[in-house]
Amino acid sequence: MNRFTASVILAGFLTVTACGAGGEVDLEAEKADARAAAGELGRTLKGELVGAMQSGGPVEAIEVCAVRAPEIAARVSEDTGMEVARTALRVRNASNAPDAWEREQLEHYLRLMDDGRPVSELPEIAELVDTGDGTAFRWMKPIAMGGVCATCHGKSVAEPVRAAIEARYPDDAATGFEEGDLRGAFTVSKPLGGSQ
Ligand code: HEC
Repeated sequence: MNRFTASVILAGFLTVTACGAGGEVDLEAEKADARAAAGELGRTLKGELVGAMQSGGPVEAIEVCAVRAPEIAARVSEDTGMEVARTALRVRNASNAPDAWEREQLEHYLRLMDDGRPVSELPEIAELVDTGDGTAFRWMKPIAMGGVCATCHGKSVAEPVRAAIEARYPDDAATGFEEGDLRGAFTVSKPLGGSQ
């Protein structure tokens, strides 16, 4: 049994046993909400990114990304009642760094890719996790490195884009990616109630 199968079975088991404040957890409904929330974040971000690239070029787009990415994530989180964000093993913005659960899933994705699975066929992951003071629904979906992303995340980032990234993110670790790599993931979490 591989890890993914194990987590699906675990999630199924917890669906029956984990009772939040409101009783049984509808995992399929949570997954549908998570997909919708991540989709909203992804679409909005991409729209603003492409718009900024077209109107002002990549240096201006970095500024837009830096300001708008956290704002959009906060707005979608507030609208959906789920915490929605992007994360990665190598991040540009340290506040996107993964927690232990997210790191585990990202490393699992890389192992699947080492075994020959393309990034487009990596699975979404949904689990109910014991947080110590209750249960949380957690969900993740891979983000592939695409061609347009190379301007700011690729192997050779041209000046003045490189300098603009360096100025805003001195600890940037999010370059050196190639098309088809795993760039990161959308991540959603939602507390489901205490363990009374
Ligand atoms: C114009 C430059 C630019 C382009 C093009 C760009 N990004 Fe980014 N990306 C950024 C910046 C700036 C951040 C940091 C945003 C923040 O502060 O939250 C970032 C952050 C991210 C993160 C969050 C994790 C981290 O490293 O902090 C992911 C995931 C990501 N980008 C994926 C992509 C993908 C996929 C594409 C192509 C579809 C892309 N980016 C295109 C500039 C860019």
